[in-house]
Amino acid sequence: MSTVTLTYDGKNYEYPVVEGSEGEKGIVISNLRSQTGLITLDPGYGNTGSCQSSVCFIDGDRGILRYRGYPIEQVAERARFTEVCYLLIYGKRPSVDELKDFRIKMNRHTLLHEDMKKFYEGYPPGAHPMAIMAAMFASLSSFYKETEETLDLNIARILAKSKTLAAFAYKKSIGQPLVYPRNDLSWPANFLRMMFAVPAEDYEVNPVLEDALNLLLILHADHEQNCSTSTMRMVGSSGANLFASISAAICGLWGPLHGGANQSVIEMLEAIQADGGNYKHFLDEVKDGKSKIRLMGFGHRVYKNFDPRAKVLKQTCDRVFAELGINDPLLDLAKNIEEYALHDEYFVKRKLYPNVDFYSGIIYRAMGIPTEMFTVMFTLGRLPGWIAHWMEQRRDPDNRIHRPRQIYTGETEREFEDRGTKHLPTGR
Ligand code: CMC
Repeated sequence: MSTVTLTYDGKNYEYPVVEGSEGEKGIVISNLRSQTGLITLDPGYGNTGSCQSSVCFIDGDRGILRYRGYPIEQVAERARFTEVCYLLIYGKRPSVDELKDFRIKMNRHTLLHEDMKKFYEGYPPGAHPMAIMAAMFASLSSFYKETEETLDLNIARILAKSKTLAAFAYKKSIGQPLVYPRNDLSWPANFLRMMFAVPAEDYEVNPVLEDALNLLLILHADHEQNCSTSTMRMVGSSGANLFASISAAICGLWGPLHGGANQSVIEMLEAIQADGGNYKHFLDEVKDGKSKIRLMGFGHRVYKNFDPRAKVLKQTCDRVFAELGINDPLLDLAKNIEEYALHDEYFVKRKLYPNVDFYSGIIYRAMGIPTEMFTVMFTLGRLPGWIAHWMEQRRDPDNRIHRPRQIYTGETEREFEDRGTKHLPTGR
């Protein structure tokens, strides 16, 4: 076993090097503090491995993403979302019978408890659907107990009910009656129907949209230790239940630097277009650094070559638009920006490429999904990944509560003088 030697204060300390199945190496520093009194400082955790995991592999320099060893391009082309859920959560491809059983389970649990509908009534008009989703997931824990015996059932409930929760949030936001699930439909078709059907009219799910949604869900299904998945593990490490951990992960995903980027991309493209479409002027502002404006949908902490998901999505965009006969000027604008940025020194030098969110919003828009729902769509796709990581951690006998340290930079000890403030009258 290779080791790393640390020399500090005249003494040498040896730390083992652990190697993953793809040759990734890390220094195991579990004894660092007890032996040396030192901790590591790594804001943003860019150099810190928080766990060992077998769910997902990414090689950012080579643009590789694999789920349980399977290349994302093959999974995206050959699987349906339900099979990917099974693969990620249970660690192996299901047999045909296992897949059928799993599909039945995932289809059977789509209904929400009728009492949950009352929660939707309390939200003000314009409430962001991510706020509703986070609250609804936490609320599920008050309806379904978590024990070792109910875990599998709860997983099926989560995957089945998530689309109903999301579609109800949308229907509530536009004041339309809720559309109940129809369990003979596929996962994406059932969701699209709950989103877009109205009781007064027939609704046929467009197979082009069903396929595109299936693909989008698969492409978002896991991405190792990103912000929301790390949140999931952080909260799960305390023993919090699966529903509560997902609620926390949803909040982690919401921000514009993570899952909220797909909404920000469309808002950015719309703003550029409203300003006359002068994207070069916009990119100059991004590059001068003073404005702190970022080209949303570009850059990634891990991918320094290209994001393989963005590649698949760009092709899907072209196919969906051609098949639906849609002509969206935002797609042309996005392509122009990509082309320009890929040859511009600022972006090339910093290895900034389009990420999954650059094109996903444009497809969602073509499907008729409103901008505020984009991050909810990301949530629906990412659920199996979050669950897989939570399960992996739960089954890990070495799991310890996540509790990082810090380097304190505040005041040193000083006296809290008694100024009599404790006895001031309370209230007005
Ligand atoms: N536009 C302009 N400049 C950028 C961008 C961008 N989108 N991203 C990074 N940079 C610059 C940044 O200013 C810095 O430049 P300098 O070295 O001169 O200071 C350099 O590139 C390195 O950036 P960083 O902020 O240190 O990189 P990071 O790894 O901390 O951030 C990121 C990764 C994804 C948060 C960032 O690239 C970003 O803000 N992108 C836009 C938001 C976005 O699209 N997020 C979705 C990510 S993919 C979906 C997901 O998995 O969440």
